[in-house]
Amino acid sequence: MTKRNLVIVGNWKMNKTPTETKQFFTEFTKLYEKEASKIDPTTWFGLAVPAINLVIAAENKVAKKMLVAAQDVHQEASGAFTGDLSASMLKAVGANSVVIGHSERRAYHHEDDALINLKTQKALKEHLIPIVCIGESLKEREQNIWKDVLQKQIKGAFTNINNTEILKVIIAYEPIWAIGTGKTASADQAQEACQYVRLEIEKLFNKQVANQIIIQYGGSVKPENVAEILNKPDIDGALVGGASLEANSFIKLLTLNK
Ligand code: PGA
Repeated sequence: MTKRNLVIVGNWKMNKTPTETKQFFTEFTKLYEKEASKIDPTTWFGLAVPAINLVIAAENKVAKKMLVAAQDVHQEASGAFTGDLSASMLKAVGANSVVIGHSERRAYHHEDDALINLKTQKALKEHLIPIVCIGESLKEREQNIWKDVLQKQIKGAFTNINNTEILKVIIAYEPIWAIGTGKTASADQAQEACQYVRLEIEKLFNKQVANQIIIQYGGSVKPENVAEILNKPDIDGALVGGASLEANSFIKLLTLNK
């Protein structure tokens, strides 16, 4: 199997003003300079920040391999879409990546797989790395239909994307019941689901694509559990909410992952 790089991305959600963002980067840059030698050189990392903070994040990129991600993108290039932002606008302020279809956007903004597919295609066209989120609810986990849910989300999100383009996508498997709840899926549960996602990708594309695509786990990842989760063979990184808000905790996620 081809070796896949780890990709650890913080998702700040609706947190931090520009002033707070600057404070974070002052602290994070110092810590990064001190701890850089402890970070595996093949590890990629990044932060998905509120759009008003993208400029600051881009100006404070501590490494070339740092992703500066937006948290959403509109599927159209421009037009009468009040409040939305296009991929070219995000790129213009320094973003190189975008989170698409987070469960909070699926729930509160009624985003469905078809829309997520259009947004993913748009991001790919504009050379923003899409981090596409999938994951089942607690009810679906308890009803033991999580595989069907993931299969439907994968098919819906990745239709009309070819074998080359799909490899630019990062998939984030985030069980909704583990997000912000402090309830992490066990490392074995996370591995089982990420392995299943890889299998579905193989069915939709091919074995080579399945072996190469990056699949992150997300949901209550913190310095205390990051190593156990990222040691699993099918988990290639993490999408981290709460534990990415403090520079001290975020740097630990980058240094403690082995
Ligand atoms: P959490 O959030 O780490 O706070 O559970 C993860 C996410 O929603 O991406």
